[in-house]
Amino acid sequence: MYSTSCETLSEDPSKDRAISDMLIDSFGRIHTYLRISLTERCNLRCHYCMPAEGVELTPSPQLLSQDEIVRLASLFVSSGVDKIRLTGGEPTIRKDIEELCLQLSNLKGLKTLAMTTNGITLGKKLPKLKDSGLNLVNISLDTLVPAKFEFMTRRKGHGRVMESIDAAVKLGYNPVKVNCVVMRGFNDDEICDFVELTRERPINVRFIEFMPFDGNVWNVKKLVPYAEMLDKVVEKFTGLQRIQDHPTETAKNFRIDGHQGSVSFITSMTEHFCAGCNRLRLLADGNFKVCLFGPSEVSLRDPIRLGEGDDKLREIIGAAVKRKKASHAGMFDLAKTPNRPMIHIGG
Ligand code: GTP
Ligand code: 5AD
Ligand code: SF4
Repeated sequence: MYSTSCETLSEDPSKDRAISDMLIDSFGRIHTYLRISLTERCNLRCHYCMPAEGVELTPSPQLLSQDEIVRLASLFVSSGVDKIRLTGGEPTIRKDIEELCLQLSNLKGLKTLAMTTNGITLGKKLPKLKDSGLNLVNISLDTLVPAKFEFMTRRKGHGRVMESIDAAVKLGYNPVKVNCVVMRGFNDDEICDFVELTRERPINVRFIEFMPFDGNVWNVKKLVPYAEMLDKVVEKFTGLQRIQDHPTETAKNFRIDGHQGSVSFITSMTEHFCAGCNRLRLLADGNFKVCLFGPSEVSLRDPIRLGEGDDKLREIIGAAVKRKKASHAGMFDLAKTPNRPMIHIGG
């Protein structure tokens, strides 16, 4: 049976670790997955992620230092978080990325250290990152056509991303998740080509519905709904079977008879998965966000720099978690609600 679970960092003897009330919201959802954005910078300029003119960057002194990131991560992990995903911007452009991975993977109680990356420089860095404890990688790739890649990302580099996917497979990451944001008129004609990639390789291709963020010129006409994407796959491939997903999954997962890999759909716009949400977000500037689409943020950097202790930080985090809404608004309201550009949030 195919599984989307990854190798764990360490055998944690206390599987049922106590979860601090700080991580439980008013709907009973338990937040054990922390996404940390390590930088607002990126070596690509994807249309769906950032405005053409770029984004205003937070001055470096206002970004979290390595020590501050580790301190906060340690607080979350000791409270019950067992999975951390590093995002950005592009996390691999941070100079201390290996050291950060090493420190985070050594946190007692952390089972998964993951990264979402555009794959531009990953191939070179992955052996060291693996040695530093990185045990799950998701790589963004929206097209198999180099010229289209250059149009979408406003940069070259398609070959390097393909090499990174191969490198991750060779290093034993299984599955290597490939994130493909599907947009009508851009790459919806490539869905079956992407599925074909999974025939001989342990790749999990994840088709993602295009979501609105500030500056990404979202339009419902560009959204390809899950039902339509699934129809395209079913038409061409036989033996598609739905996998029983974990309640906290972002993706609806399918295996295909005879394929080593699998395909999934991330349906935030047409079938949200907020009921099972276990995710919290720490942004590069130290702001804490309890929902990808919730505009409210609270600074954890400021109290740290004022010398506050862990109890005060726990109080701030717990209060924000308790304010978390049951689900995000519908897509048309989201498109009108101010939020940060995706490059600041990290997905
Ligand atoms: P796994 O840990 O491998 O399951 O990955 P993930 O889906 O949690 O993370 P990834 O960074 O690969 O994100 C894939 C897509 O899911 C991106 O488009 C994210 O923006 C989206 N996503 C992640 N978390 C959430 C969430 O809480 N809500 C919504 N609506 N989308 C999310
Ligand atoms: N809609 C859906 N997914 C997006 N991502 C970035 N911007 C969007 C968007 N507007 C994806 C990236 C990356 C992940 C963190 O989020 O492709 O894989
Ligand atoms: Fe960079 Fe990822 Fe945003 Fe593309 S989607 S600009 S790769 S952060």
